[in-house]
Amino acid sequence: MSTGGDGGARLLAPSADAAEEIEEPTLRPRRLSEFVGQAQLKEHLSIMLEAARRRGEPVDHMLFAGPPGLGKTSLAGIVANEMQAGFRVTSGPALVRAGDLAALLTNLTEGDVLFVDEIHRLARPVEEILYPAMEDFQLDVVLGKGPAARSLRLDLPRFTLVGATTRTGLITGPLRDRFGFVARLDYYEAGELETIVRRSAGLLGARLDDGGGVEIAKRSRGTPRLANRLLKRVRDYAEVRGDGTIDRQVAMAGLELFQVDELGLDKVDRAILEATCLRFGGGPVGLSTLAVAVSEAPETVEDVYEPFLLQLGMLMRTPRGRVAMPAAYEHLGLPAPAAGVGGFPAGAAGDSPISLWG
Ligand SMILES: Nc1ncnc2c1ncn2[C@@H]1O[C@H](COP(=O)(O)OP(=O)(O)OP(=O)(O)O)[C@@H](O)[C@H]1O
Ligand SMILES: [Mg+2]
Repeated sequence: MSTGGDGGARLLAPSADAAEEIEEPTLRPRRLSEFVGQAQLKEHLSIMLEAARRRGEPVDHMLFAGPPGLGKTSLAGIVANEMQAGFRVTSGPALVRAGDLAALLTNLTEGDVLFVDEIHRLARPVEEILYPAMEDFQLDVVLGKGPAARSLRLDLPRFTLVGATTRTGLITGPLRDRFGFVARLDYYEAGELETIVRRSAGLLGARLDDGGGVEIAKRSRGTPRLANRLLKRVRDYAEVRGDGTIDRQVAMAGLELFQVDELGLDKVDRAILEATCLRFGGGPVGLSTLAVAVSEAPETVEDVYEPFLLQLGMLMRTPRGRVAMPAAYEHLGLPAPAAGVGGFPAGAAGDSPISLWG
């Protein structure tokens, strides 16, 4: 994906890059007990897993939704581990033809967990194969063409489908209805991120003190993947510019160098806010116009940057476009326009932004 092509911006984009996908296994939690935060989701999951284990059945299909880097893939792996089941991985865009999915399904072993990442990007004919597969563990195959075509029903091994999506809105009703459990992952609290950073520091053998952990957690915009990434960059900084110890001062200096501000916003976030507040007079501004203004793909703005700005109460989505909220002006050090003027609605000026960090 495009991130404007400079190191500072890249650092903060919550999506994974190729190198990280390879490195991540070391930091990825393997068991439910290692998975930090999302307490309610974990409780629901542990009950489902335990019940399925006692019955000796595969656990019901489940869908994990939420912004990038919050642990959807990790949870899918955990489900397979906890069930001591095989783990097969694919993704919506990888399944081009119905046959691609049919081949995968017929090769499953009883109990396997089939993980479909980016499930909102499944092609229609592929998705339609999934319906009977999920519901009845059956596969409909059509042999031949025209009047001589015959339809054949194959039994599939019983399996668990785990889907992940960054866009719940794009999952069709029939698909969504076939999941026995749909969970939305929320941004993590500062304390949870601290725990994650400490755990990762331990696994990486990095010397991190409490102050350093607090600072990194605070700037990770609620996202474990970013917490890990910031930790690695600060560790580099500490080793090159210091004696390797990550304390608060070192963390602050390192993060400053990488242009991560005290809320965890990076250059692209700030460019989005600046464009909305200044160039577009506070909005409303359409997504594609805004994306062009900051040289990003609209999907990147929508999936990667915007959710956290919405969460912080800096941006608002309205039917007419994106609107800058008072907190955005405040964060940029700009005077906020009077209520009712510019994009934001009357009465909004006094509302305090939702703060993630309390
Ligand atoms: N709850 C957690 N506890 C500890 N570490 C976590 C947790 N959630 C995520 N992580 C860390 O963050 C990394 C990214 O998580 P993961 O790949 O599961 O996110 P994702 O939701 O699948 O992201 P994407 O939407 O980009 O695929 C993991 O490798 C892991 O190290
Ligand atoms: Mg993932």
